[in-house]
Amino acid sequence: MKNIDFIDKYGTFRIKNPENYSGLYLPLAGEKGLKSSITPTLGGDSKTSQNTFLLEPVSIENLHNNKGTRNFWCRIVGKGFWSVCGSSAQQEADRFTGNQDESELEAGLMWQKLHRASKIYGLEADTTSFVTLDGSMEVMLVEITNKTDEAMEIVPIGAIPIYGRSADNIRDHRHVTSLLHRIETTQYGIEVTPVLSFDERGHRKNDISYFVYGSSGNGESPESFYPTVEQFIGEGGSFLIPEAVRTEKAGAKAGEKFQGKEAVGAIKFANRIIKPLETVSYIMLAGLTEKENDVNAITGRYRSVLEVKEELNTVKKHWIDKVNIDFETGNAEEDNYLKWICFQPILRRIYGCSFLPHHDYGKGGRGWRDLWQDCLALLLMEPSDVRRMIVNNYGGVRIDGTNATIIGNEPGEFIADRNNITRVWMDHAFWPFVTTKLYIDQTGDTDVLFEHTTYFKDYQSMRGTSHDEAWNTTYGNKQRTAGGQIYFGTVLEHILIQNLCAFYDVGEHNEMKLHGADWNDALDMAWDKGESVAFTCAYAGNLLDIAKCLRNVEKISGINRIEVLDELKLLLADDEILYNCHDKKQDLLMSYAKACENCTSGGTALIPIAAICENLEHKAEWMMKNIRENEWISDGTDGGWFNGYYDNNGRPVERCESGDVRMMLTGQVFAIMSGTAKKEQIKAICNSADKYLFDQKAGGYRLNTDFKEEKFDLGRMFGFAYGEKENGAVFSHMAVMYANALYKQGFIKEGYKVLKTLLDTAMDFDRSRMYPGVPEYFDNDGRGLYSYLTGAASWYMLTMITSVYGVHGELGDFVIEPALMPQQYNEKGDAKVSLEFAGHGFDILVHNPDKLEPGEAHVKRALCDDVKVENVTGNSVRIPKQAIEMLSTDKCHTVEIYIE
Ligand code: G1P
Repeated sequence: MKNIDFIDKYGTFRIKNPENYSGLYLPLAGEKGLKSSITPTLGGDSKTSQNTFLLEPVSIENLHNNKGTRNFWCRIVGKGFWSVCGSSAQQEADRFTGNQDESELEAGLMWQKLHRASKIYGLEADTTSFVTLDGSMEVMLVEITNKTDEAMEIVPIGAIPIYGRSADNIRDHRHVTSLLHRIETTQYGIEVTPVLSFDERGHRKNDISYFVYGSSGNGESPESFYPTVEQFIGEGGSFLIPEAVRTEKAGAKAGEKFQGKEAVGAIKFANRIIKPLETVSYIMLAGLTEKENDVNAITGRYRSVLEVKEELNTVKKHWIDKVNIDFETGNAEEDNYLKWICFQPILRRIYGCSFLPHHDYGKGGRGWRDLWQDCLALLLMEPSDVRRMIVNNYGGVRIDGTNATIIGNEPGEFIADRNNITRVWMDHAFWPFVTTKLYIDQTGDTDVLFEHTTYFKDYQSMRGTSHDEAWNTTYGNKQRTAGGQIYFGTVLEHILIQNLCAFYDVGEHNEMKLHGADWNDALDMAWDKGESVAFTCAYAGNLLDIAKCLRNVEKISGINRIEVLDELKLLLADDEILYNCHDKKQDLLMSYAKACENCTSGGTALIPIAAICENLEHKAEWMMKNIRENEWISDGTDGGWFNGYYDNNGRPVERCESGDVRMMLTGQVFAIMSGTAKKEQIKAICNSADKYLFDQKAGGYRLNTDFKEEKFDLGRMFGFAYGEKENGAVFSHMAVMYANALYKQGFIKEGYKVLKTLLDTAMDFDRSRMYPGVPEYFDNDGRGLYSYLTGAASWYMLTMITSVYGVHGELGDFVIEPALMPQQYNEKGDAKVSLEFAGHGFDILVHNPDKLEPGEAHVKRALCDDVKVENVTGNSVRIPKQAIEMLSTDKCHTVEIYIE
């Protein structure tokens, strides 16, 4: 029997006794406001930011030992007590006896409903949890049914501990910060308003009130309250067997005040007699708001079951509509997993890489690399906002081609580093153009390249190697000219600066310096001599793509010269002798960086596009040739791969010696993606990846072989146990990018294998032990870790749409070039994807009745809304931008493609 059963095509699933599996949690959030996580026993936490945690912050290891979270109790008069979420000492113990509650969780995008049935008491409860769309509060609706044939008297008590402060205080001054709590009971609930936000560098006046409110399902207010932990659990008590539940303990009435205690939103409702088969309902609301707001008014919207259910429906519809991509691959279960994968980029837009139990690092904001990559997926789902995001985010680039590393929540808000450590990730400058290119292809909007925006400026200078002593906060965080003006450059200029500076920033093997790390954050101990061949390949590919894009701009717009920062001319040196000499390249780069260190001259230059393109192409060709000639490793049989790195002793990191095969996937991915690897080399790489990196048990292609060495001259990854995270796990993000690269070069079968094994591993619940979606990585046993917030999801979705279904834009034209394998059609040979393109809804149907493999097959004809599409060549269908623009926007259009 399957553990996860889908009940619709929107990802809604059911799972029996989910509490029997460790580490499961769902995200619950609003479009803004609260970001929560919730486990099958209602554990997890809730917060709006690092400094405003409503519920106590949890990491993955707290999920099984921290029971101080959401709960709802029934004291069954004369019989005992029962928790609707199984979080009681008795129910914990009963899980391992024949008395375990029957439980089933039903969950969808941003909501869950837990059903539990007690064998001992004959009570059943459905507990529905979600966050309101505006993110102002968590809602918990509890519906309790008496399944016995006798009336039953219960005392209902809801309890949600209120942490009400910064995550930093989880250990740092935990007790002292509880002394700041001012707690008050009101007609419907409990409010906690700390006096100060504790911070030894300067305490701030606190402006936030945290609340837990409750009512019966028809709006009656509670009877009494236990607002402090002491009162609720009692001396020597615990949240699993609280005194106020165990015994008939008098509570506080509305209008009472308490100070300096740990708080809990424990709410006792009036005794209730439930007749046989009768259902009674209770509502618990928990949230936070500015302290001057009236909590009573805010929560007043959800006092009755009807109001709560209406909001639940709004929430469900909202998130389903957001994920406006549907796959029909002939396997409904896979399609539902893909739904969750498409939802994941939206989750990372909301949560960043912080704020879910595995993601217990960071303080919010969004990392530079992740943000740009998630933009890829958002471009396909929420395109309207992406242009603004792109232009704004280029404002995070420094004039030396490095960038602020964290992007705040407001447009144009950048932070140099979350821990104020000066670092340069050498891959960062690669990603923005990747996203911009997709944007231009999807929309045909080449004008975006000519939008003007600022450059980020701070103390850090000379590509992280020095400090600009002349800079201070009065100067501000925007680059200025010698005349003191804020300097604006085009998006294109930002792109050129990023990629050209990278070209010159090489180490002694003439490959780009690793600096703080590249995509692999854990290669972080080779600042001096480390080099990343992997990303040298990636940048070479970028330079070619930039040139291609500019040639198109010239063709379409007739623009043949562009205006750039005068100093940038330095970076346009084009000289093979210079290219061959790593020292000279560094010197040139430093002279450029020095020239702009504090301010730019303010002058600009006009450069012909043709000259820039040639220049970029020469550079790219030189880089690729250098890599092909110097980095190839053969395994002596049919395998081979590129050395992807140099360590801090300047030694190549990868090798193939008997008994010591050191191969890393990253270098191969970018060699393939950029076109550095020739066809024969790609074949050899695939052979080697299958031989040395593929591991069926772990669920796919590992990130690297086991070096069996703690390489402190390369990075912390070698300190991780082998097979975990960046040290050789099946790391989904890189695996998916491997698939993407293979599809790009026409290695479809190979690419399919990568995608398929990843999804199969995730779907094999017995091993992956995870809710639907793709995790950051699978460990040695195939368990999925770091759910939801991973770049793997964006790339998975992107690859499915643009490579597998082959649906993509080319300068605004709508192009469909299917590369589906026979297994990706239903029994009739049909496959479908529904999505939006250029503001129009499309159902794309691919008919391949003989299920021919890509390569054997050709597109014979295509129809758009039953009208023949003229432009069908080989394997692709093209509908010009103008034709798309003429389509009506009030209906969904159908494109049918016939493959024979
Ligand atoms: C995570 C980080 C990403 C980093 C990667 C490898 O990957 O978010 O920035 O590049 O680890 O260190 P993700 O799972 O998001 O793909």
